[in-house]
Amino acid sequence: MIFQHKHLLTLEELSREEIELILENAKGFKEIFTRSIKKVPTLRGKTVVNLFYENSTRTRTSFEIAAKRLSADVINFSVSTSSVQKGESLLDTVHTIEALGSDFIVMRHSCPGAPQLLARRIKSAVINAGDGPHEHPTQGLLDAFTIKEMKGGFEGLNVVILGDITHSRVARSNIWALTKLGAKITIAGPSTLLPKSFARLGVRICTDLREAIRDADVINLLRIQLERQRKNLFPSIREYTLLYGLTEERLKWAKKDVLIMHPGPINRGVEISPEVADGKHSVILRQVTNGVAVRMAVLYLLSGGEEA
Ligand code: CP
Repeated sequence: MIFQHKHLLTLEELSREEIELILENAKGFKEIFTRSIKKVPTLRGKTVVNLFYENSTRTRTSFEIAAKRLSADVINFSVSTSSVQKGESLLDTVHTIEALGSDFIVMRHSCPGAPQLLARRIKSAVINAGDGPHEHPTQGLLDAFTIKEMKGGFEGLNVVILGDITHSRVARSNIWALTKLGAKITIAGPSTLLPKSFARLGVRICTDLREAIRDADVINLLRIQLERQRKNLFPSIREYTLLYGLTEERLKWAKKDVLIMHPGPINRGVEISPEVADGKHSVILRQVTNGVAVRMAVLYLLSGGEEA
């Protein structure tokens, strides 16, 4: 199967088969991590530019490692020290980067749809590394990869996404990917953070934590994104933790082999207790490692590759 897309902008627009193709290739690339030389020549001569208008630890770093393991040249464009600070527009900035010779632009931006705008206007392949609260496709893919690795598949699996769904690009990308792959999704949290419109995406909506996680095979916790909230959507962080924070005691309500996931950064003691974050059910750091393999697969397939 050939991956038909030039850009990776959303998981909404990918088919189940295309998502499975990415996961299959990521599995092949993960095998490279056990070698003494963790490098293949696939993207030799290509240039990947990381263009992050919002902060990032995991996504930016793992795209850099992924591109380097594929032998690409990598430029980390620092928005805070660039001419963006003198008022240069997004398109002028990106046209300048292209004139310097980019083949891939990995972009994070606070504005939903910014990667789509770029994809229409430039020659480089565009990868969405998070556009406001809209989508974070490679996070959705690495979450799916991790679930498949740990659970063997998706059919009939109960996945609970718990926390600030309204402001979460991770929630949207997870829902698109996991429902296409056959999982059943519950979104859970305070009603003010659960958009009713999500019912149209085929998910169950639940405000009672115990009820939400009772049959959960996977609980994917989300950070409360105070930076995106324009008004108070719950009384206080303390109140949120009292009602929805996942502790060891509450984890007993879920299945014995439940997986605990979190895209990071985590707020210890808020949405997740330190014991749960570091406990035996947690695959949070495995998600980070898998992010490199998934991003290698995405870069490879966008460059015209077929199979691992
Ligand atoms: N998961 C995620 O996007 O983390 P960063 O913001 O650190 O990239």
